[in-house]
Amino acid sequence: MDKIVIRGGKPLSGRIPISGAKNAALTLMPCALLTDEPLTLRNLPRLADIDTFGHLLNNHGLSTTIEGTHPDEFGRVMTIRANRITSTVAPYDIVRKMRASILVLGPLLARAGEATVSLPGGCAIGNRPIDLHLKALEHLGAEIELAAGYVKATAKGGLRGGKYVFPLVSVGATENAVMAAVLARGESVLENVAREPEIVDLCNCLRAMGAKIEGIGTERLRITGVRDLHGATYAVMPDRIEAGSYACAAAITGGEVELVGASEADLGSTLDSLREAGVEVTPTADGLSVKRLNGLRGVTVSTAPYPGFPTDMQAQFMSMLAVAEGASLLTETIFENRFMHVPELSRMGADITVRGRSAVVRGVAGLTGAPVMATDLRASMSLVLAGLAASGETTVNRVYHLDRGYERLEEKLSAVGADIERIGDG
Ligand code: UD1
Repeated sequence: MDKIVIRGGKPLSGRIPISGAKNAALTLMPCALLTDEPLTLRNLPRLADIDTFGHLLNNHGLSTTIEGTHPDEFGRVMTIRANRITSTVAPYDIVRKMRASILVLGPLLARAGEATVSLPGGCAIGNRPIDLHLKALEHLGAEIELAAGYVKATAKGGLRGGKYVFPLVSVGATENAVMAAVLARGESVLENVAREPEIVDLCNCLRAMGAKIEGIGTERLRITGVRDLHGATYAVMPDRIEAGSYACAAAITGGEVELVGASEADLGSTLDSLREAGVEVTPTADGLSVKRLNGLRGVTVSTAPYPGFPTDMQAQFMSMLAVAEGASLLTETIFENRFMHVPELSRMGADITVRGRSAVVRGVAGLTGAPVMATDLRASMSLVLAGLAASGETTVNRVYHLDRGYERLEEKLSAVGADIERIGDG
């Protein structure tokens, strides 16, 4: 397996292009199931998860065509077409690789009247049940059975509009419900929905395909089902988590980086906390400039659904705060098991104590390089950040986690002065 080797201590300086958002792409791709016309997605990131989702769609009988952007360019254009759905089964072998596969459930059900999807099971950051996905679909007229590790959902006469109030905010369950409701008969009202920018991206794409959705960006969506949707061309939003991660890279190394294409509005609470920690963030004509002026200061951060501080930025912030002056308190409220980077950061010299859902980070003068590994994507990024700031050499193992979510990480970082390389196992 590939490794990433970083010789730390170099302030970053220059421009980093921000790719299309992984989490937006993973909910835009299944929209292609909702129409027999082609859906063309621009600015799709080159990531392992996108390829896996493409294979899943191929397995349902969809064609996926990637247009030739030059290999040196970032982003891709993919046209997905579902003239015919040849299988409504999402098999275990694909779903186990990627939880987001559950996002075919709503659209398959809406278009084909049935869907059988393997249960995703647990994952490294907690249990992650799908009960809310299923309840929302039941409120739209689906019948759900669970057997042999699969969810079988059927809607014999088609889905019908309904009302569902989510008992807790779920990004994925909101996405499945929205993708189902756009083709349901009549009006649906979904309350306490997730308001993440990726949900806004989904709704905008569906509108471009002819869906009728009101309340986009609020906690209440009113959707009037239509008989058919049509094809569209849609550009995936920039990745706010990738942008936030590179902002932390500039901050932790004491550098200055321009995040090209990053959107200030989408990064709201991440930027608030960065500024509170002493990082200067300024909008530019092309994106955002991030600069650390003096030392970093400890802050208190609690993860929450959007517009709160994203759980997907918690690990990267922890690395940055490990070298801040004073103590920080990080509380994780979304996932129960999302501090697995802590023991690895401690091995690099960080002073972190975990008590239940909170971590107290006492800033240290410096980190030292070490061989490390993480069990999930954002935790792996937190180790890369720590390596960029540490003295000596850091080897990050299990690079496949990073390949799921950061397009050409080492290329982007070395272009701004990091000493980072990928070492293949061959
Ligand atoms: C999505 C993102 C992930 C991000 C997360 C929270 C994608 C592909 N992934 O994941 O990167 O960390 O949002 O911002 O977009 N829950 C239930 N029952 C359900 C569904 C969720 O109890 O049916 C719980 C989860 O266990 C978790 C919380 O709700 O505690 C939020 O999870 P959710 O927003 O659904 O996360 P995902 O959509 O899986």
